[in-house]
Amino acid sequence: MNLAIIGYGKMGRLIDQLAPEYGFDVLAKLEGSNNGGARGITAESFRGVDVAVDFSAASVLQNIERLGELGVNAVIGTTGWTQQLEQARSSVQRTGIGLVWSANYSIGVNIFLQLASEASRLAARHTEYGAWAWEIHHAAKKDAPSGTLLKVVNEMRRTDPAREVSVSSNRAGANPGIHEIGFDSAADTITIRHTARSREGFARGALRAARWVIGKHGWFEFQDIAFEL
Ligand SMILES: NC(=O)c1ccc[n+]([C@@H]2O[C@H](COP(=O)([O-])OP(=O)(O)OC[C@H]3O[C@@H](n4cnc5c(N)ncnc54)[C@H](OP(=O)(O)O)[C@@H]3O)[C@@H](O)[C@H]2O)c1
Repeated sequence: MNLAIIGYGKMGRLIDQLAPEYGFDVLAKLEGSNNGGARGITAESFRGVDVAVDFSAASVLQNIERLGELGVNAVIGTTGWTQQLEQARSSVQRTGIGLVWSANYSIGVNIFLQLASEASRLAARHTEYGAWAWEIHHAAKKDAPSGTLLKVVNEMRRTDPAREVSVSSNRAGANPGIHEIGFDSAADTITIRHTARSREGFARGALRAARWVIGKHGWFEFQDIAFEL
């Protein structure tokens, strides 16, 4: 299987390093200098590529449109572009490629998401609890709150619309990511926390998604396939 890596920063380099463990040869590597406006995604540079993994932090929609034109499936890990999600989804439907998207490819975070949803459902009748959601990431992360925290909070609000959720984020140091939710009453505190130790869990999840999406058509979210990979 042949892989293209779009975005050769911290995540892209880790994907490159781990790719052989998942049976991939890396045929193309694109970065800011050779892919401004998605100009590096060409029939020539993508000849023989089965799937592309994007951790570019830029021009995601253009990248998806170019990949669609070339019929190349994709795994998108870049965050901070959710306002263009609907456009991306219709581009995928129109071109018929297979694409997996997630703001978080860690299996552990996807377990955490389900636990947060279940905790919110169980707490719904108990109005004495106040709820919060919090995250911290390294200082270079651009989007805040993280895409993962937004997803958790949306899920909490969907499960229990009456409860207010106090949301906050920190950006400092080199932290690869902590997400936490909690419920607090006069009597006690419930806390659920996911702590990433490194970026490795994200890279491994993305590579598993890449292997899975080959030969598939349509729009998929990692949380819906994470437990069948
Ligand atoms: N979904 C997940 O599980 C997950 C996990 C971790 C991170 N992320 C997200 O993934 C993204 C990348 O994270 P990172 O830590 O690897 O960031 P990073 O180290 O800053 O790397 C980003 C890379 O993208 C390159 N780039 C910029 N414009 C590009 C373009 N048009 N085409 C191709 N590459 C381009 C940059 O190249 P230049 O330096 O040449 O500009 C840089 O090498 C961020 O959005 C982050 O939030 C997602």
